[in-house]
Amino acid sequence: MPIRIAHAVDQAPHAGAKRLFVKSYGCQMNVYDGIRLADLMKPQGYALVEEAAGADLIVLNTCHIREKADDKLFSDLGRYKRLAPQAILAVGGCTGQALGAQIFQQQPAVKIVFGPQTIQRLPALLSKALRGERAIDTDFPELEKFDALPTPGAYGASAFVTIQEGCDKFCTYCVVPYTRGAEISRPADDILAEVQALAAQGVKDVTLLGQNVNAYEHAGVGLAELCRVVGDVPGIARVRFTTSHPNNTTPELIAAFAPPAQGGNPKLMPYFHLPVQAGSDSVLARMNRNHTVQSYLDIIAAVRAVRPDVAISGDFIVGFPGETEEEFQQTLALAAHVGYVGAYSFAYSPRPGTPAADLPDQLDEITKKNRLAALQAVLDASTAAACATFVGQVLDVLVEGPAKEANQLRGRSPHNLAVNFSYGAADPAALVGQLVQVQITTSTPRSLVGSLSV
Ligand code: SAH
Ligand code: SF4
Ligand code: F3S
Repeated sequence: MPIRIAHAVDQAPHAGAKRLFVKSYGCQMNVYDGIRLADLMKPQGYALVEEAAGADLIVLNTCHIREKADDKLFSDLGRYKRLAPQAILAVGGCTGQALGAQIFQQQPAVKIVFGPQTIQRLPALLSKALRGERAIDTDFPELEKFDALPTPGAYGASAFVTIQEGCDKFCTYCVVPYTRGAEISRPADDILAEVQALAAQGVKDVTLLGQNVNAYEHAGVGLAELCRVVGDVPGIARVRFTTSHPNNTTPELIAAFAPPAQGGNPKLMPYFHLPVQAGSDSVLARMNRNHTVQSYLDIIAAVRAVRPDVAISGDFIVGFPGETEEEFQQTLALAAHVGYVGAYSFAYSPRPGTPAADLPDQLDEITKKNRLAALQAVLDASTAAACATFVGQVLDVLVEGPAKEANQLRGRSPHNLAVNFSYGAADPAALVGQLVQVQITTSTPRSLVGSLSV
């Protein structure tokens, strides 16, 4: 799920503090790493700032998933070099891992390169760079980063916690197994300690993160059990997890979505992000997905059997090498059939070093673009229809902050939809970070609108 955010800044840097600017690209796991990186640099005297201009250290926490992501990195590097010529430029994240020392060649202003598993070594890399040497570390030390990083700071009522990293699936189009390494799960006790620290800072909604989060398994504890103990932490009202692979969906996990009276997890939100990538078995086979369209649909049916209103979202790739018009039509049909509440869709991007990049019959950019537009039209209609079904309902909303509109706040529904609502005579500042009830009056193509229910 790609999102781009500038990291939240918790306070103005005190006089004498050095200034750290972090930009995270790509998925939520990078956002999490970016936050922990800022926490790591705090004791080193670095305060997070919102603007790159004037920064002493700029860290670009990169994504390598599609070619565009790399292009953006190199254009940003040029821009930051001009904006903050005094700053030490560091490239972390998945492109750091994938390109390594090549980044120094492409942009000599970069002084530090590291990967997603070595962020904890940034202070040592920085000392080296301050001595005028180029510093690089793209090792894969298992779990070292989680052991070495300080307890995270919270920036609101919702937080991400990475519980699993890496991927052993090797879908033929994907760089993640190479950039994040093999699948590895954190001990449940470490995760619990982190969630407790977040809850103590006011976090109520926790999203457990992993490239294959439902492959989580440590000392016999699986994801369903982990969600249960995380939900039992005092103060935690909502638990979600992302991203799942169809093949790691266990009966226990499906059962966790059931109502509490039927043994389900009362804190687990009715939201399930389950990427499928394509609606054609032949494309799925070429992608090495190791599942079929039917096995995917069976999982969704099983979850809906215990929790009919569960919001399903997914990821799609169009224009995979050799994708015929007929295969593409099967993807459109699947997208229309599932009733997605949200979905991410991408044009296939050949990535150096992945098997699919060497397949014959690469599609031209125009075909890919047209197919993407056609798929997005179907998915957008699905999202708008799903949003409309909530009109008239009263929903629990976790309030995140002020909305763009005056006299409105914004928050998230249990199904992970954005909700903007008017708060009447209530004190908006007192509502931020709280769970409130909102009467939904209208919907937009992607969100809900309502008013505080009293
Ligand atoms: N581990 C997750 C997500 C991985 S990356 C999963 O397996 O679902 C997020 C999404 O990026 C993928 O689901 C896929 O839709 C997309 N993606 C990955 N590689 C891509 C590529 N080479 N071109 C286009 N989209 C890609
Ligand atoms: Fe990439 Fe496939 Fe692994 Fe997801 S499951 S991270 S798409 S290789
Ligand atoms: Fe991108 Fe790495 Fe996440 S390639 S999508 S930042 S795992």
